[in-house]
Amino acid sequence: MAANLVLLLLLLQVLLCFSDHVKLEPKPATKPVRLFTEEDLANYNGHTEERPIYLAVKGVVFDVTKGKAFYGKGAPYNALTGKDCTRAVAKMSLAPEDLTHDTTGLTEEQLQSLESVFKDTYKEKYPIVGYTARRILNEDGSPNKDFKPEDQPNFSLKDEF
Ligand code: HEM
Repeated sequence: MAANLVLLLLLLQVLLCFSDHVKLEPKPATKPVRLFTEEDLANYNGHTEERPIYLAVKGVVFDVTKGKAFYGKGAPYNALTGKDCTRAVAKMSLAPEDLTHDTTGLTEEQLQSLESVFKDTYKEKYPIVGYTARRILNEDGSPNKDFKPEDQPNFSLKDEF
């Protein structure tokens, strides 16, 4: 009986130590994220059979491989891949001059459309694999202090790598 009590006290002690330890453990500021240069991203344009297919919208790089019927080689939206195609998505245009990250001069309606496709199609359907350099770094190459990774409730951490 006394031995049981001692055991119980010991167990309590261990649990208390453990919870203290967990509480004291510093949390990392952010999860590590992968940075894509334009050249990196261009390698994932669906033209190499065994490689995944990536595209970026608003500087967020998505793995769209499961949408191969849309994005694969010869598929209707292949032109959007291997780059940041924010402007094309906002304007629903595949014109070469719109295949860019640049949102200069877009109308309010186009910007709203961009937000809804970003949220309801890309963030909903495709795992985030990283961010473009433009999104993570300032123009002088220093880290952008305002950078915050996107939440993506449908996917777990491992999907980001
Ligand atoms: C004749 C014109 C077009 C027609 C008939 C058309 C039709 C469609 C259809 C049927 C879908 C599939 C919806 C689904 O199954 O989830 C789709 C998706 C989509 N379309 Fe179009 N589309 C056209 C032009 C464009 C253009 C010019 C763009 C330029 C960006 C575009 C971008 C998209 C995107 C981003 C998706 C979502 C693909 C995904 O789920 O990953 N479409 N379109």
